[in-house]
Amino acid sequence: MANVATTNNQSKEADALSSVALLLAGAVFLLMMIAGLLMRSAQGKLIDLDPTLFYQLMTAHGAGMVGAAALSGAAIMWLFLGRHVSLNKLAFKAFLALFLLGVVLILYSIFVGGFGGGWTFLYPLPAHSGGVWETAAAATFLVGLLLVGAGFLVLYFEMGRAILVRYGNLSQALAWPLVFRGKMETVPPPTIVASTVIVIFNSVGTVVGAATLAISLINLFVPTFEIDALLAKNMIYFFGHVFINASIYMAVIGVYEILPEYTGRPWKVSRPFAIGWSAVLLFVLAVYPHHLLQDMVMPPWMLVMGQVVSYLSGLPILAVTAFAMLGYVSGSGMKWDLASALLFLGVFGWSVGVVPAIIDGIISINKVMHNTLWVPGHFHTYLLVGEVAMSFGVMAWIVRSKQDVALFSGLQRAVFWTYVVGALGFAMVFLTSGAASVPRRWAVHAPEWIMQDRIATLLGIVTLLSAVYFVTRFGSRLASGERK
Ligand code: HEM
Repeated sequence: MANVATTNNQSKEADALSSVALLLAGAVFLLMMIAGLLMRSAQGKLIDLDPTLFYQLMTAHGAGMVGAAALSGAAIMWLFLGRHVSLNKLAFKAFLALFLLGVVLILYSIFVGGFGGGWTFLYPLPAHSGGVWETAAAATFLVGLLLVGAGFLVLYFEMGRAILVRYGNLSQALAWPLVFRGKMETVPPPTIVASTVIVIFNSVGTVVGAATLAISLINLFVPTFEIDALLAKNMIYFFGHVFINASIYMAVIGVYEILPEYTGRPWKVSRPFAIGWSAVLLFVLAVYPHHLLQDMVMPPWMLVMGQVVSYLSGLPILAVTAFAMLGYVSGSGMKWDLASALLFLGVFGWSVGVVPAIIDGIISINKVMHNTLWVPGHFHTYLLVGEVAMSFGVMAWIVRSKQDVALFSGLQRAVFWTYVVGALGFAMVFLTSGAASVPRRWAVHAPEWIMQDRIATLLGIVTLLSAVYFVTRFGSRLASGERK
């Protein structure tokens, strides 16, 4: 009896920790949406923004959004992994502390130190500000990112440890006997397979990112300490691609765990599911050269690999998650509420967002498209309509009440559809602008592009307003203790 009570208390604390992290991520999403809106309205000449400030906002928006996506993903993974293995909550607290300390340093470096080199900290840009920021500001930014990375490594170490304690080895946790022999005694649940894949590939990605950060940091103070710029670019894009993908993969665990509660059909690890996730492990590590297709000095085989793997990498996702989800949902007679609708939308947005990436991964198209708004169009689709929608869905599920299904016909349904139109429309304008060769990362836009910028600003405001509803509803229900 005492054991059951302790376990219940522990799981309640894990829930509370995840909820706090999700709320924090939600608040950052809102703040960074405002930063994004300021940039978009400045491009549309609705407001006057000094270009220096534009690039500071762009740096804060990029780092903040990627950080919040990763934080919300990590909170979701922690919440559900804790249902299957025994996790030490100290690790999550250490992760949160390192993450927050990193965020404070990043914000300080940008808004006090004036750092505006972009969240991708492309080497050797942090050391070449042209007088816009001091070395100390760049160093503070890099240290801030390092702390965030260290936080993730602590978290993954604990998750990996707990998985190994429970499943004995990685092969079992990845369901490899099922992959290679077609059967295994005790098939692990989807959360274990997905978490194991994520822990492996994002630990590798984060370590590579941390190495580049450390080298850049030394280079700031000892300029003769150099790294080959092309190698550094490879390392940074490897890290960036892996890290942002991990945020979506972590969030999709929420779909595997929550949707079965609605459909009454447990999400099982089938052989295709296990193969799909093992394929993700390979593809997510090998696909990053599609960011470097314009770097003519890259070894040709890597560019070809980037293109081919871009085609392949979308398939496992679509097969084992999107199509499977349609299978589970159809004919299940499930009742929709805000949580299930947002989770469904998230998988839709993720799948749709993969398509422009595949198009951009084609070398002949990439030559003209990669530095245009097509690329923000791709990732705003799979983040804003994908990861962020899934996170809002998990938030809505955590605080859902019995009446929510009935209420879904009223305000909730209206706000949900407003978000769909706003977020999808906002991302689509990026895509159409990219298709018309409007460049990305330009603080000042030509008069011909301004109409699209203004339409996007309007859609962005609509998105922000619905996001405010999702996050404040979550926060106020948490505060009032109104939970499932
Ligand atoms: C209402 C919501 C949003 C608005 C208004 C917005 C706006 C913008 C704008 C104007 C840019 C610069 C585009 C350019 O000219 O290159 C941008 C870039 C970016 N956004 Fe957003 N965004 C939103 C949501 C998000 C979300 C949810 C994420 C991720 C979770 C995100 C991640 C990024 C990233 C990583 C960049 C690239 C920054 C860079 O180029 O260094 N955004 N966004």
